Amino acid sequence: QKKMILDLDTGIDDALAIAYAVADTNVELIGIISSYGNTYVETSAQNSLNLLHLLGVDDVPVFIGEQHSSTTDHFDVMPISQLIHGKNGIGEVELSQSPRLVEKQSGIDFLIEAAHKYTDDLIFIPTGPLTNLAAAIEKDPTVATLIGHTTLMGGALTVPGNVTPFTEANIHQDPEAADIVFQKQTNLTMVGLDVTLRTLLTKQETAQWRALGTTAGEKFAELMDFYIDAYFNLNIDKKGAALHDPLAVAVGIDASYVTTIPLTMHVTYDQETGDYGRTIGDKEKLLQPTTSQAAVLVDTDRFVSDFQQLMLNVLA
Ligand code: BDR
Ligand code: CA
Repeated sequence: QKKMILDLDTGIDDALAIAYAVADTNVELIGIISSYGNTYVETSAQNSLNLLHLLGVDDVPVFIGEQHSSTTDHFDVMPISQLIHGKNGIGEVELSQSPRLVEKQSGIDFLIEAAHKYTDDLIFIPTGPLTNLAAAIEKDPTVATLIGHTTLMGGALTVPGNVTPFTEANIHQDPEAADIVFQKQTNLTMVGLDVTLRTLLTKQETAQWRALGTTAGEKFAELMDFYIDAYFNLNIDKKGAALHDPLAVAVGIDASYVTTIPLTMHVTYDQETGDYGRTIGDKEKLLQPTTSQAAVLVDTDRFVSDFQQLMLNVLA
């Protein structure tokens, strides 16, 4: 059984990523590293602990990662993130407090240790900024080749971004860190807006979660409905909301959900010209062999129906 580490800015779709990783028995979730982004790093960690508790999982450790981007000394939540994920990151839904606390070990050291321990058996899924992975690579460069596979949610190659016309939110938070990852990390798959915006969940599915009659079903339906309403009110989509982060988990486990193209990418970060946070093919390396892939198509029907089945199992 492969081991999986999630690196989350929990976040509503990050919450779905936790549920998916817990539900899929093909992997063992061995830890969650907390990131900033949709909310602050401490809130994200507490959300992850409380969500695990809600799902009846009280043995997966949660670690604290970096609090802000690699080039700034503080972080403020973007107003748009608060509209989409709520002030507490999980759609203003109140969850019972987990009896557990975050681990003392830092998220960066946990990742480095796990990379050495599990090597090819480790699947790493970052669904927030790439600050933690870049920090781990800086501290121990062997991490870049040791991790079995990294499947990240972030970036946009063939469609516009969701923060600027060129930039997706996770990459926008820390383009310098993302560039280190794209240039150094081997066995990397980018699951960007190209594919995640094609996977929408609607209130028809959340009604089925609620109908289970469990606390987990009710709470997940509440937070997901907040996110679907935000998509509607902000005119992002009138029917449903994107399953960004759980799609990255699914692809990490079963790559056949998407069609990828081999592509070495890098990330722009020129503040002066405003060309900041684009995920773009490296023209010098286009014809060179690479272990980096960009997902460009997704089997929407198969993914959404498998996602829903796993959710119904784990929320029951
Ligand atoms: C990504 O940004 C975050 O808001 C979401 O959780 C997702 O990881 C989408 O651009
Ligand atoms: Ca996220």
